[in-house]
Amino acid sequence: MAKILVATEKPFAPIAVKGIRDAVESAGFELVLLEKYTSKNELLNAVKDVDAIIIRSDIIDTEVFDAAKQLKIVVRAGAGYDNVDLSAATAHNVCVMNTPGQNSNAVAELVFGLLVFAVRGFYNGASGTELKGKKLGIHAYGNVGRNVARIAKGFDMEIYAYDAYCPAEVMEKDGVKPVASAEELYSTCQIVSLHIPATAETKNSINFVLLNKMPKGAILVNTARKEVIDEAGITKMLEERPDFKYITDIKPAIDADLAAKYPDRYFATPKKMGAQTAEANINAGIAAANQIVDFLVNGNEKFRVNK
Ligand code: 3PG
Repeated sequence: MAKILVATEKPFAPIAVKGIRDAVESAGFELVLLEKYTSKNELLNAVKDVDAIIIRSDIIDTEVFDAAKQLKIVVRAGAGYDNVDLSAATAHNVCVMNTPGQNSNAVAELVFGLLVFAVRGFYNGASGTELKGKKLGIHAYGNVGRNVARIAKGFDMEIYAYDAYCPAEVMEKDGVKPVASAEELYSTCQIVSLHIPATAETKNSINFVLLNKMPKGAILVNTARKEVIDEAGITKMLEERPDFKYITDIKPAIDADLAAKYPDRYFATPKKMGAQTAEANINAGIAAANQIVDFLVNGNEKFRVNK
């Protein structure tokens, strides 16, 4: 009987785990749980005899693939798969998938939670501003970006987006104004919400030169990845632009320094929580389980991300 491991340092909601268990067991497979593990050895031990793994932001590298002799498939329950070494997976003949779109509403809702908090002075009681009528720039128009646009309409914001890989017509159909470059997006919009993946091309790409193009009262909200931010650039912006706020769901390495120096213009959530809702956990977790069952039973590789 095939064994499917859920290995989540940051666990799913119990109701999602129940849904995953039902999907796995009704297909005749066995479910094994490794939650809140604190050392890599625990993970290496748990993967030894499993056929499939469901993960979140958990790091799956060569060492894990070496230890997992029976492994056929890893599904990242979520969007970004920068935590999985894709070439090591391919070298070990393991299929890697993600579950696109399943947790994007949760992340998009958090963007607005963070934005209202930012424009209301981190709830300090002083007079703030509103989102209505402000220019919002969506940097990358994928599943999360599209949900951000949908919610921004309710706030009556003027919505712009830049995405090198998404046709302008897709944005226009949603009532979003496409712009031709990241530079144009940042110089047009007072508020920018980041939704780019962490790739070789995007790492450190959000730098001082780009950010400094933003108009007065600039706010950058990051629910994407910390790797895309140039930390020196963010520090310089906070130092040189007293009007700039950085609100992030992913703490940079310099979190403690920034929090101490800029308590009214820098905020990071205690733990990455964009996709941490029961609904997102259920959607992404059960999709991952179903994709694994479909792969093991029928060989379906629809959501494969490695070559
Ligand atoms: C994703 O890439 O799907 C999100 O960043 C969510 O990540 P998480 O599963 O670690 O919360």
